[in-house]
Amino acid sequence: MSRTAVIVPAAGRGERLGPGAPKALRVLGGVPMLVHAVRALAGARSVDLVVVAAPEDGVADVVALLGEHGLLDPDGTRAGASVVAGGETRQDSVARALHALPDDVDVVLVHDAARPLVPTSLVDSVAAAVRAGAEAVVPGLAVADTIKAVDDHGTVTGTLDRSRLRAIQTPQGFRRTTLSAAHAAADPGAAATDDAGLVEALGGTVLVVPGDEEAFKVTRPLDLLLAEAVLARRRAAGVVG
Ligand code: CTP
Ligand code: MG
Repeated sequence: MSRTAVIVPAAGRGERLGPGAPKALRVLGGVPMLVHAVRALAGARSVDLVVVAAPEDGVADVVALLGEHGLLDPDGTRAGASVVAGGETRQDSVARALHALPDDVDVVLVHDAARPLVPTSLVDSVAAAVRAGAEAVVPGLAVADTIKAVDDHGTVTGTLDRSRLRAIQTPQGFRRTTLSAAHAAADPGAAATDDAGLVEALGGTVLVVPGDEEAFKVTRPLDLLLAEAVLARRRAAGVVG
């Protein structure tokens, strides 16, 4: 049998969002962001199971929360979630969840809890691109701002060609063997901000598929306002969330 798992790194503190609960547990439309994310992932046709990397001191709370919302699957046998303790960095959190995956999982997606409004269609399209043969797949969007490189003093050293740039989102999808090899070879101190970067470092090929604006990451306070607005629009349109 071959199955698709999604790892959800949710162990960050959310420092850029300001003081409060860990970011994944901040509330959006009355429901913690992590619940929105897990609900979307578990509801995707391509997804067989979800593994959440929770804050190390918050595993029991996350288990209780997902249980309350009917999203728990401690045995990893249906599309619900199981929970492991995350680590000090995102890379470490993903690695811990990767070690907890059942043997029959051959495709692994990694999705930030901080992208709670990810459309199910994006999850399915990333998984489909891996199933179609790509070893690593990332959703990307064209960049709106001009991007410049700077030196330590803030002096511009160059302007990048915007038409060649993509802002990369999650879920990122991988053949399990590719992702495991990339994490095994990664420098634990380097703290990569995404998983595809680890595959690139090993010389692997990463394919970009079209991203989705609603898969944006909640990073700063303004992003929370945007997320509330998107959710309100979905609810007004009769989409449950
Ligand atoms: N993450 C994680 N373990 C960590 C750090 C981050 O699982 N040690 C997760 C976050 O919970 C988030 C995702 O990785 O879902 C993307 O990280 P980011 O947006 O940077 O979230 P935070 O690290 O929580 O935010 P900040 O950097 O502002 O503190
Ligand atoms: Mg962070």
